[in-house]
Amino acid sequence: MSRIEFPPNFQWGAATAAYQIEGGMRVAGKGESIWDRFSHSPGRILGGATGDIACDSYHRFQEDIDLLKSMNLSSYRFSIAWTRIQPEGKGPAHRSGLDYYRRLMEALLEAGIRPLPTLYHWDLPQALEDSGGWPARDTAGRFADYAAITLRELGDLASDWVIFNEPNVFTALGYVLGIHAPGHQSLEAGLRATHTVNLAQGEAMRAMRSESSGLRIGTAFNMSPCEPAGDREEDAEAAERWHRFVNLWFLEPALHGRYPEAFLKGVPEETMGIQDGDAERMQAPLDFLGINLYTRSLVEEDLNDAYGIGAKPVEPQGDRAGPRTDFGWEVWPSALRDMVLRITRDYDRPVIEITENGCSYGDAPSAGGQIPDTRRIEFHRGFLQALHQAIEAGADVRSYHAWSLLDNFEWAEGYSQRFGLAWVDFETGERTLKDSGLWYGQVAQENGFEAR
Ligand code: FCB
Repeated sequence: MSRIEFPPNFQWGAATAAYQIEGGMRVAGKGESIWDRFSHSPGRILGGATGDIACDSYHRFQEDIDLLKSMNLSSYRFSIAWTRIQPEGKGPAHRSGLDYYRRLMEALLEAGIRPLPTLYHWDLPQALEDSGGWPARDTAGRFADYAAITLRELGDLASDWVIFNEPNVFTALGYVLGIHAPGHQSLEAGLRATHTVNLAQGEAMRAMRSESSGLRIGTAFNMSPCEPAGDREEDAEAAERWHRFVNLWFLEPALHGRYPEAFLKGVPEETMGIQDGDAERMQAPLDFLGINLYTRSLVEEDLNDAYGIGAKPVEPQGDRAGPRTDFGWEVWPSALRDMVLRITRDYDRPVIEITENGCSYGDAPSAGGQIPDTRRIEFHRGFLQALHQAIEAGADVRSYHAWSLLDNFEWAEGYSQRFGLAWVDFETGERTLKDSGLWYGQVAQENGFEAR
């Protein structure tokens, strides 16, 4: 047995998102978001679930902080609900919304935990969706205003901020596939949305910096290493194009002011509404890259795909496949090492924070009240080992955040997928650390663990 030891000052954390845990949908003048609207639309969410109450963290955040503390964690990634700050997506900051986040962040600081707020984890004000949503260019300016007032009011409580959570996911699932809010199915709208989000990323960063100095700003990109499904050269090329689309579509614009060559016929500039000067506007020299990673992608050539990328992800089969979580996602730990090393190589060793990594397993409390989720322990052990290999090979990784602190509202899946280190009884709101939470707390305390 050898010991896996993380670098000194490595931060151990957990992540959540406002709509998935807060509840408090109608309290203190909060405005309606696209997720409030979507979850209340019949047939959209498994079992008709909504986030109206969720984990009730709006009222129980001190219990969440106690859990973080009991696991010796030093970083908490949460998100700010735009509709608590600007109920209609514009206008002055709403005092009681700000107060909630001020209390949360002060309590974190009190507990010695770094607050790592995300400005946008998918809950666009419905009023802005009504005026065009992310496909509308104006939304970039609205978002930059929101970023500015949030930093003006709360910038004294955190130096590290995340702009967007998984821009590729919310633009694709929300506007192209229609399985997330706001539920549109239009390739054109989805592509336009990606461009507005890229503009918003640059504009928000400038707005944030003009409000507060000494900030460290990142975005949490959903990433997945893309491997060719077959031995054909065509599959290798398709995997590379897919990589550029899923992993780099919001990173290249931020760091280099350009879109990567993901499409067979070039960047669809007209469809996306790209204008002169946008290359400069999109630039956002991020201080760190947040990586959310759950699994790998196997890709093969598909010259008839709807996007025009000429590629499609395929399910791993037979003895090439890893085990699956309850969500059906393949467990493939080396994906984290491979992705981190690829980004380290291609972007000149940027500072990386792992902003999400985790798994859904339904393991429930036993008669004794213990929650024996050994598969989750194995999951984190495997991914952490792979992350450690990437660090040994030269990657500059500063933190790891388990998704999630709590079982919560898993978007279209409602409450059916449990990702938490803590079990939540959704009847009573009671939280109980699972065995994985106890194990993770030990790892955080020792800054490592014994490898097998
Ligand atoms: C990520 C999301 C997060 C959660 C996990 C399971 O894509 O950022 O909110 O749903 O997946």
